[in-house]
Amino acid sequence: MKLAPSIYTADFARLGEQVKAAEQAGVDWFHLDVMDGAFVPNITFGPMVCEAVRRSTALPCEAHLMVREPERFLEDYRRAGMDRVIVHVEACLHLYSTLQAIRRLGMQAGISLNPLTPLGAIEEALPFVDLVLVMSVEPGFGGQTYIPTATERIRRVRAMLDRIGSKAELEVDGGINPSTIRQVRDAGATVAVVGAAVYSPNHTPAEGIRALRLALATTGESLRPDGFPVCE
Ligand code: DX5
Ligand code: ZN
Repeated sequence: MKLAPSIYTADFARLGEQVKAAEQAGVDWFHLDVMDGAFVPNITFGPMVCEAVRRSTALPCEAHLMVREPERFLEDYRRAGMDRVIVHVEACLHLYSTLQAIRRLGMQAGISLNPLTPLGAIEEALPFVDLVLVMSVEPGFGGQTYIPTATERIRRVRAMLDRIGSKAELEVDGGINPSTIRQVRDAGATVAVVGAAVYSPNHTPAEGIRALRLALATTGESLRPDGFPVCE
């Protein structure tokens, strides 16, 4: 399973260093959580910080736009060097045009939906996306608890993608840690966004990533309640 660290809970005073630490530990791409204080009740950062991360890593970078009317800013994220832009179905009035605009700018197009948004809202969009991001928490904050009904939603999106023969990545975002990562992989997700499980005052990014990889490689019975294998 691919891992996409979210820098949301990283130490922003040492951002370049934190990005490099995760890259060296072996991750697949960086997930940048852009929040506007309107679509979600929190503000993080915009294209300038995305561009700074871009300069700190050779890995692909995706911007998860938790903003209203994201079509206003697509060009900014292209200039910031983003490989993929993910928009929320709840935030786009003219979704087809927005997805096409992202691709026309030379980026991959991703679509996301909140935990209780009916899956039918994305079905028609699937032929036009390179990635589907299933939210397993309400967007807005890092370090929240995984909403268990997300697992069945991942299974259903997996079936929808398979039915149309789509090769789009199926990514899950929110509350992924060593205790929850296997169930999302088993439900058919191909990528896990990992925030607090990688960037936390309690462990280094390398330790966090190792715990996630071990959890993926271990069977359920031998895990401690915190998700670390008992052999640790
Ligand atoms: C939630 C963001 C996330 C989140 C992930 O609004 O989209 O990417 O910060 O963080 P964790 O893994 O800590 O839930
Ligand atoms: Zn995110």
